[in-house]
Amino acid sequence: MRGMYICLCNAVTDHDIRREVAGGVRTFAELQARTGCSDCCGCCEPEARACLAQAIEQADAQAALPAFVATA
Ligand code: FES
Repeated sequence: MRGMYICLCNAVTDHDIRREVAGGVRTFAELQARTGCSDCCGCCEPEARACLAQAIEQADAQAALPAFVATA
């Protein structure tokens, strides 16, 4: 499943953004450098930033859980 397209110009989905966050991306500039998201028309920037912030929040919350809960 590819997920929902966030950036149509560069075919970046919400799944792509979450994958990049899991790989260590923490800033919008890093996301742009790795995916090309929002480097064309820019229409997707607000949604891409919101998706990035949500993905970081979820990743940080997951990391804060005890190992026996995080891996369950
Ligand atoms: S939709 Fe993302 S740059 Fe155009």
